[in-house]
Amino acid sequence: MPRRKLVAGNWKMNTTRAEAVALAQGVAAGVGASPKCDVAVIPPFVWLDPVAAALKGTAVQLGAQDVYTEPKGAFTGEISPAMLLEVGCQYALVGHSERRHVIGETDAATNHKVHAALEAGLHVILCIGETLAERERNLQERVFQRQVYAACAGLTDEQFGRLTLAYEPVWAIGTGKVATPELAQEAHKNIRARMALLYGDNIAGALPILYGGSLTGDSAPGLFAQPDIDGGLVGGASLKADSFLKIVAAAG
Ligand code: 13P
Repeated sequence: MPRRKLVAGNWKMNTTRAEAVALAQGVAAGVGASPKCDVAVIPPFVWLDPVAAALKGTAVQLGAQDVYTEPKGAFTGEISPAMLLEVGCQYALVGHSERRHVIGETDAATNHKVHAALEAGLHVILCIGETLAERERNLQERVFQRQVYAACAGLTDEQFGRLTLAYEPVWAIGTGKVATPELAQEAHKNIRARMALLYGDNIAGALPILYGGSLTGDSAPGLFAQPDIDGGLVGGASLKADSFLKIVAAAG
């Protein structure tokens, strides 16, 4: 079965409440009732509720930028998978490079989060990718292996069916330096080959792998034409409806 593309906008720590609602409305209006790819927006936690209301009855799905490992309890500042489901999320991002490299999240923590989110019924977008120093030392394949092996340990086949990977080379995030289609395709092909070795051809073949890192309406068509690139995780260009919709159109 061909893999359906997904374009998701990670708004990071941006937007006021009014901007978030207007952006969600603009995306929903532009996407229409039956888009050719899946489309999701991922606002800050505090705007999930008003954005969910703005998206009600539209084709645009909702995701959260992170999730905690426990269902409830004394975990000050954290948000459980059940809370995300109740507010209307279908997706949770796990292991974004800013969480790994700015906030210090470990591979073990990503594994616990992936499990907690999938067990609760969410769909997980797991981010992986090498830093510039790792690429300069040609270590990217070892990094993919370590990150996916750690994060996916113990998942069932059914849970793999609700997992999407996002390859986000850290040197391309927010820098304007987008990976070329050839370089990104090579990385995606490698990641899929590693998943096949670890978890079998069926899981690897069905697994959507998104590209993320300075993606724009101009770079998206070339990247999305590659056989192992199944859509995009968009940062900066997802903060304006028209630039995000240009990327969505490239996935159709
Ligand atoms: P930019 O598109 O701003 O480079 O961000 C990419 C990203 O981190 C999406 O999660």
